[in-house]
Amino acid sequence: MNTIDRIDSRTTHDADEDIRNRDIKIYVNGEIVPRDEAKVSVYDSGFMLGDGMWEGMRLYKGKWAFFDEHMDRFFDSCKAVSLDVGTDRAGILDALTRTAEANGMTDDVHCRLMLTRGVKARPFQHPRLSRSGPTLVIIMEHSKPVDGLQGQGIRLATVAQVRGLPMSQDAKYNSHSKLNCVIAALQAEQAGADEALMLDPHGFVNTTNACNFFIVRRGAVWTSTGDYCMNGVTRAKVIEVCRDNGIPVLEKNYSLYEAYGADEAFLTGTFGAQTPVASIDGKPIGDGTRPVMARIRQLYKELVERNVSDQSHD
Ligand SMILES: Cc1ncc(COP(=O)(O)O)c(C=O)c1O
Repeated sequence: MNTIDRIDSRTTHDADEDIRNRDIKIYVNGEIVPRDEAKVSVYDSGFMLGDGMWEGMRLYKGKWAFFDEHMDRFFDSCKAVSLDVGTDRAGILDALTRTAEANGMTDDVHCRLMLTRGVKARPFQHPRLSRSGPTLVIIMEHSKPVDGLQGQGIRLATVAQVRGLPMSQDAKYNSHSKLNCVIAALQAEQAGADEALMLDPHGFVNTTNACNFFIVRRGAVWTSTGDYCMNGVTRAKVIEVCRDNGIPVLEKNYSLYEAYGADEAFLTGTFGAQTPVASIDGKPIGDGTRPVMARIRQLYKELVERNVSDQSHD
């Protein structure tokens, strides 16, 4: 069987099928239109070159969890590549609010906010050819991560594709071009796993193709130094809840040797919060119980609740 068709394959972004998503409305440059009518030009810089930045966010009780942190990353990324957002955070929030209202969405919603350098005058690379302003698109879907993943966990394979040095394409850019991660995901799939575990240029364990990666050893939580991975909002919040609740947490270099021997391993990302890892390169992780991740998951849930409730009182 083709590995792509593996019946039992799973990813950290698996969501329960929701037929309402066939009829969602999408924001495209100020217009909110039915999904089938939401289109961008074939000359768009995002389509042609992957020249754009995006954020994945979740809506809880009508509020965007960790909105400020997502906007910090988004505006920093855009500034770093001289991509003029064309509005401020309030303008972005207004576009998000309008899109959520048009869809009648308040909870269990995932959003992909995307900004590209816009339509190019000619089909070539130079940014100067993007002359008509940026393209802003907001896709919001009803989305609940599948429950089964919490029990089953994700199977990781270490892959040949590594994270790059910051002077090539800094991993901190949440850019439209994710080819490095896509190649890693393909390699993992071809190895019979669900997602890729990627090493840094020195061979230390770094991150996965779509999420940040943590291990638990003897009660302490370890993650990479952060040098070659996405500066994940969920990663930062997991470190914060550990520090605030007396759970030892270390940002350090470590190798596969320590990852294989971990008591627990889990992934973090806005979509799935914390997702357990069942195995790495076919080696089962721990004994399948995940007390530390379960505690962190509960503390993170409470932090999200506090964050959205604070926004309600702003
Ligand atoms: C490569 C990669 N790692 C990690 C993450 C998780 O980041 P966050 O926790 O901000 O969703 C993402 C999400 O965009 C990502 O693309």
